[in-house]
Amino acid sequence: MNNRIFYFTGTGNSLAIARQMAASLGGAEITPMAAMPGGYVGQEEERIGLVFPVFAWGMPRMAAEFAKALRPRTGQYVFAIATNGGSPGRTLVQLSKILRAIGSNLDGGFAVRGDFLISMQSQTEMALIKFIGWLGGKNVPGFAKDRFREISKTVEEKKSHGAETSNASLNFLGSLMYGFSIKMFARMDKGYSATDACVSCGACVRLCPRENITLANGRPIWHQDCEYCFACMAFCPQSAIAWKGAIPSDPKHHPDVTLSDVLLR
Ligand SMILES: Cc1cc2nc3c(=O)[nH]c(=O)nc-3n(C[C@H](O)[C@H](O)[C@H](O)COP(=O)(O)O)c2cc1C
Ligand code: SF4
Ligand code: SF4
Repeated sequence: MNNRIFYFTGTGNSLAIARQMAASLGGAEITPMAAMPGGYVGQEEERIGLVFPVFAWGMPRMAAEFAKALRPRTGQYVFAIATNGGSPGRTLVQLSKILRAIGSNLDGGFAVRGDFLISMQSQTEMALIKFIGWLGGKNVPGFAKDRFREISKTVEEKKSHGAETSNASLNFLGSLMYGFSIKMFARMDKGYSATDACVSCGACVRLCPRENITLANGRPIWHQDCEYCFACMAFCPQSAIAWKGAIPSDPKHHPDVTLSDVLLR
């Protein structure tokens, strides 16, 4: 295979665009970052892509850990697509720095709005999402579906495309927020609980990218090593996972991504 794409996803946007990219490039091996804890050493691929969401104006822990352990071959075109809710901040600059530190380069860095946004019933979450969108101001990136053609052409032609960011003030604020937010996310799973609709199927255990869920007496227990990615809640086939007592309304994930697509084990 000429191309390889690694992805991390919570609600499916990043996997959906990773697949679209693979198709437009004439094929690519698509692998979840969660399946590559030791990173990856570049082989004969022409292009290596990283697709992941923006969390707190930066890279999710899993994406940052994966990038640090990645070893692209000299001459390989490395690109990234950071899906987001409207304000990517300096996420792709963060990735670019990681790659430079390992002697590589981010050849193409694209920030796109995810085509799907989960509706959180928690008022705090909704207020935060709106606030993030407002802060994005004029530099709000286009939606993945609208930008796909342009991005895939750039990647196909292996053109250089600098890391896309938000505006200067949001970049500054986001950089301040990122460090403590991403640490805090590990324990955000304390807000999750399973309702009586749970049928003990274990899907949440099998899909969690951090192996952060176990079942006890047939019910999930979270272990405070969370990405706060929402995947367990979004893909539970019984809609049995609540966040602070509330279950988001349907749809809960990107329409092209199903539970079987996100099961990791
Ligand atoms: C914990 C968390 C933090 C987020 N932080 C940001 C952010 O700082 N900026 C932003 O634009 N979107 C943010 N989002 C929105 C996601 O980046 C966006 O919905 C993304 O497309 C999700 O990708 P996925 O469906 O592949 O998980 C955040 C989402 C979550 C769950
Ligand atoms: S995926 Fe849902 S129904 Fe299945 S064990 Fe987890 S909480 Fe219960
Ligand atoms: S516990 Fe849920 S939100 Fe946390 S990393 Fe696992 S799937 Fe994502």
